[in-house]
Amino acid sequence: MSASSRTCRYLLYFANEHIEFKIAELKSLASLYNIKLDLHEACIDKKDPFLVVDLPSEDGAIQIMSRTLLVRSAYELWGQGKSHEEMYRNLAAFHTDRMAPYFSANTTFKIMVESFNKTITQKEKVQRIEELPQDILKFEGKVNLKNPVHIFTLMEYYGHVGTTPPDKPLAVYFGRWICDGQRDKISYFNLQKRHFIANTTMDPGLSLIMSNLARVKQNSLVFDPFVGTGSLLVSAAHHGAYIIGTDIDYLLLHAKSKPSRARQKKRASDESVQANFGQYRLESQYLDVLVADASCHKLWRPMIHFDAIITDPPYGIREGAKRVGKDAEDEEKSSLQDEFPKRIPRLRDYHLSDIFLDLLDFSAKHLQMHGRLVYWLPVDRLDYKEENLPSHPCLQLIANCEQVLNSKVSRRLITMEKVREFQENGGMTARVEVDHYQDATFRERYFRPTNLTNDEDN
Ligand SMILES: C[S@@+](CC[C@H](N)C(=O)[O-])C[C@H]1O[C@@H](n2cnc3c(N)ncnc32)[C@H](O)[C@@H]1O
Repeated sequence: MSASSRTCRYLLYFANEHIEFKIAELKSLASLYNIKLDLHEACIDKKDPFLVVDLPSEDGAIQIMSRTLLVRSAYELWGQGKSHEEMYRNLAAFHTDRMAPYFSANTTFKIMVESFNKTITQKEKVQRIEELPQDILKFEGKVNLKNPVHIFTLMEYYGHVGTTPPDKPLAVYFGRWICDGQRDKISYFNLQKRHFIANTTMDPGLSLIMSNLARVKQNSLVFDPFVGTGSLLVSAAHHGAYIIGTDIDYLLLHAKSKPSRARQKKRASDESVQANFGQYRLESQYLDVLVADASCHKLWRPMIHFDAIITDPPYGIREGAKRVGKDAEDEEKSSLQDEFPKRIPRLRDYHLSDIFLDLLDFSAKHLQMHGRLVYWLPVDRLDYKEENLPSHPCLQLIANCEQVLNSKVSRRLITMEKVREFQENGGMTARVEVDHYQDATFRERYFRPTNLTNDEDN
């Protein structure tokens, strides 16, 4: 067996932002590329920026890095320890045949020293490099600081961000840098530079993570039933998907709603969801966005199946979620109905639990087998329990990550996979054990004063 085909150990260095999604994203990308991934349980701490993994090959690491938003950099791990001495001992045990090519006199290299949660001086960095065991690291090539062929990193970890760093590092790693992840896409898709946005446009980092969790790939067909300005679909299209969306809001989809940018008085005539795809040269992936109420439209024939459904349903923080409903008790007439009589229907409340039950029912019917649904679920942190998540006999829960919004509420990024064919008369419907939005809407829970105790709440 050649050195390059042996399973090898890699160090993944994660960004701190959105770190709560790191394992879910990594596992999804490994399964997207069919890569066997072994996580070293000892290093799995939700907040740790470092994770040691075994992968069958460097190609696998490169594939994962070609998609990940959360991993900053990947390194072939040559040595690790709780101290420099322990790291040197492990370095001595690393395969010499793996190291040898990088020591060649015909190549160039540089060694970087990085520290996490503590600043170390340039002088200390040089000292750390000089202390590295030269009987193991037998570099014969030339040092090239500007443009080396190979880069090695000595990494010192001093605890989570916000904790007081100890004098000595908690962990020390030495590895060969392989490549960086896709963090640069966050600024590429920056909302400040995006042509058409609204108040609820999803941040590009989270949108790309959702597309990764959904295992979107070249030529996937991806649907967002609550499409808004299409931010989630921009990410899916960037990953090669053909995209389609629906939204109940005619004014928003036609960019006739009030602008959300502070200094903008009127929407420009060329603002639209489609224009965003043009901005990123993704027009070829854009199928359409349609005005439709997710709770009742009959757009899709039974044979239509999506590879992924990714969505951020309305939670009603700014205003309650709505569905089309004439002559209902809670029917509302919008002042805009006079201006757009044929476009703005009468609306009624769309109860939050119903939104999620409808979403799961729809996904069970219209996902391909092994297709994924990725959506945000708002929860009250006090009464959240995993067993109360909406469920469906055709959908298996794959990942469930919390993003805290304030001390009382959070939203959970839920990933589900279709694992059973849907049968129309098979009693296959979505259910939720406890309807947590019965007594108080999510909006009420979101704005509830913090000093209330549990008892006062009841
Ligand atoms: C949180 S926003 C989605 C934002 C979107 N991800 C983006 O990046 O712009 C929720 C969207 O759901 C839409 N919506 C609310 N009720 C709906 C319904 N019954 N059917 C379809 N869309 C609905 C709202 O108009 C809003 O645009």
